[in-house]
Amino acid sequence: MSRFQTQVLPIDVLSIKFAPGATLPQISDPATEKHLKEAAKVIANSDELVGFPTETVYGLGGLALNDRAVKNIFQAKNRPSDNPLIVHIASLDQLERLIRANTNAKSNAYPKIYEPLIKQHWPGPVSVLIPIDVDIQDKSDPYVLSRLVTNNLDTVAVRFPSDPVARALIALSDTPIAAPSANTSTKPSPTAAAHVFNDLQGKLPIILDGGDCSIGLESTVVNGLVDPPTMLRPGGLLVTKLRKIPGFENLVTEVSKKVLGPVRTPGMKYKHYSPSAKVILVVQKSGTVSEADLERLFNEHGSGKVGLASEGGSVGKKGAICRLLGEGVQQVQFNMFRTLREMDLEGVDTIFMIVKGATLNGEEGLALANRLGKASSEKVEV
Ligand code: TXA
Ligand code: MG
Repeated sequence: MSRFQTQVLPIDVLSIKFAPGATLPQISDPATEKHLKEAAKVIANSDELVGFPTETVYGLGGLALNDRAVKNIFQAKNRPSDNPLIVHIASLDQLERLIRANTNAKSNAYPKIYEPLIKQHWPGPVSVLIPIDVDIQDKSDPYVLSRLVTNNLDTVAVRFPSDPVARALIALSDTPIAAPSANTSTKPSPTAAAHVFNDLQGKLPIILDGGDCSIGLESTVVNGLVDPPTMLRPGGLLVTKLRKIPGFENLVTEVSKKVLGPVRTPGMKYKHYSPSAKVILVVQKSGTVSEADLERLFNEHGSGKVGLASEGGSVGKKGAICRLLGEGVQQVQFNMFRTLREMDLEGVDTIFMIVKGATLNGEEGLALANRLGKASSEKVEV
């Protein structure tokens, strides 16, 4: 049942500026300022949610300090309550306040290991685990997090996004915002306002439309509290860049590049990032994909209406819905989730995602390989 007439409010991203060192934005476009303030009011003064762009994917934001708002997030997405949320901030002051309010020691210092990471990569597409106390004695501080955000874990994942719309929304609402990706659970993450609308219309009052997300997949999640530090989820900040940060040289990646391992049995995994259509990941080993290759793929793996999305070149087939994914890790990342969603809207039954082995193989392709591996039910090589 629809609770809201969801409004998609346009934002002129270029009209939002941050003076060096400033937390609050300067906004030159009056409509943009009005829309951002309206959304900030929803976050700060109600239990309701706002869809907003970040540089990675769109987020579904709610007040991280309020149980009802956090419950609404889990409910709107149909997300299992044991999967913790990332808390978004827009200044180091906010990080320090958060730590002070959520630890009994009442120190506001963040773990030293994160100093160079924060200096070099915040704001940006990386989330870090911060220790918190499960049993907060003094709950009078307004920055005490809802326990539902972390499902009672003794850490909270924190991120300072670089997208001006996200930063402005957090700064104007003057509060930490809990935000998962703004998709229905199991669906591809949203990289445009229309994707959020398709999944969540009626469940939230406002979606801020700041255009396409520049990266197209989620932030890297890092745990620096263990030795050696661990990457819990590959994402927007590359492993190669992480390993250049002092203290993170020996970073362990918990995710293996399963996608390039032996072909898996279909259906043996938890569904994630998936459109309604069946997704077949086709790893392109050789230079080109021939007509004969396609014929064989379609006969062996395709059923119903077929979609074909390929990296580079001009792989196409009569009767199939064809899309290009661009070329190289960045472009394929940018196009991956949106293409899966577009194919669904076209009523496709089987989607072949043809990506070059060289693109998926390298450390730079780790996040891409991880998402495509999870989105697909089968993997084949040509
Ligand atoms: O780019 C992003 O990170 C986006 C945008 C909106 O910021 N958000 C996002 O949130 O991807 P979500 O909820 O879809 O993914 C959060 C990931 C999950 O894999 C979750 O298990 C992990 O972060 N996570 C959150 N808190 C954690 C914690 N305390 N310990 C371990 N993992 C945690
Ligand atoms: Mg997600």
